[in-house]
Amino acid sequence: MPDANLIDIRTAAADAGPIRFFDLETPKKMLRVDIEKRWQKILDHGAFIGGPEVGELEAQLASWAGATHALAVASGTDALVIALMGEDVKANDAIFIPGFTYNATANAVLVAGATPVFVDVDAHTCNIDVGHLEAQIDAVWKAGRLRPRMIIAVDLYGLPADYEAINRIAKAHGMLVLADAAQSFGGAQGGRRIGALTDMSATSFYPSKTLGCYGDGGAMLTDDAARFERWSSIRWHGTDAVKKESIRVGVNGRLDSVQCAVLLSKLTVFADEMKARERIAQRYRLGLGNAVEMQHVPAGSQNAWGLFTVMVDNRAEVMKKLQDQGVPSSIYYYKPLHQHLAFAAYAPKGGLPVCERLAERVLSLPMHPYLTDAQVDWVVVAVKGAV
Ligand SMILES: Cc1ncc(COP(=O)(O)O)c(C=O)c1O
Repeated sequence: MPDANLIDIRTAAADAGPIRFFDLETPKKMLRVDIEKRWQKILDHGAFIGGPEVGELEAQLASWAGATHALAVASGTDALVIALMGEDVKANDAIFIPGFTYNATANAVLVAGATPVFVDVDAHTCNIDVGHLEAQIDAVWKAGRLRPRMIIAVDLYGLPADYEAINRIAKAHGMLVLADAAQSFGGAQGGRRIGALTDMSATSFYPSKTLGCYGDGGAMLTDDAARFERWSSIRWHGTDAVKKESIRVGVNGRLDSVQCAVLLSKLTVFADEMKARERIAQRYRLGLGNAVEMQHVPAGSQNAWGLFTVMVDNRAEVMKKLQDQGVPSSIYYYKPLHQHLAFAAYAPKGGLPVCERLAERVLSLPMHPYLTDAQVDWVVVAVKGAV
């Protein structure tokens, strides 16, 4: 017989409606009038590509992040590819990436024509393991076939990677650092926001990201004016500033005015949404206590909470039990990248044991700014009951 308190929690959660894993509906309803107004303006001025919304968005993104330059691009993947193309990477350039991330990180390296070198991750933060990173860089130098060129650090689930250590390692080896901040826009470290923590950053505005548009989108940030000029040119087919001559190989990586308008509208509530994510994450952490292992957030890091992820041993059983209690959950990711067919040729000898173990244990719980306290409490009850 469940106790009265449990019945209260279940009732309050049910009153708040179904628990969504992500919530695209609430902000759409909240901002619909504003977005429609912005879209009507675009219909009137007709600049569907390169409209005033693009520059306005770029200025706001740079200002939010505390970076000098921001460039709006067509997706998070394009942001990574353009950043790599901007450094003119070649097949003998080694690009170090964590083995536990979305496939886009590795795809970008290969599409840009460079060579990925997989690095294991830390079992607690789920981000690149800086000790293994150093070992992999040393191994590449020793082998002499590739030149260590760049580190792409991924901020998994929204947690900034250890940029202090990564920047130091990169500097010691004359390498660059690209932050794959697709999941972490809105996060921070050491008092500086994502987008201003390293040489260059790439983020995604895929609809379910912390800042999402209504289709594909992304952005790139840097303090380096020359790098920004190269990116701007590559985004627009590699043309010069007046768009008359191709001065390098480029892509069509532009972000449509209508998507920029959505993002400008979303930015009006973004600071509040980030506060809500933090409040919800802390409620989860307090409620879950020691019942499950959770992604570790080091002191000084502000997780953007793109996802709230725990680690469990009996994952399939926990997922099923959660589903029975009306709690959706999801797995990011089922397999580390070096075990995917497309990237198997780059698998390190001996594999990546921490990535492999995490892939068996990670489970992401509902996370979005519109979860009510009652819903969070119900998820906590359901998780505790399921593990
Ligand atoms: C870590 C990471 N990198 C890159 C991407 C690619 O972003 P997009 O889907 O906008 O191309 C994603 C998207 O999920 C991601 O999670």
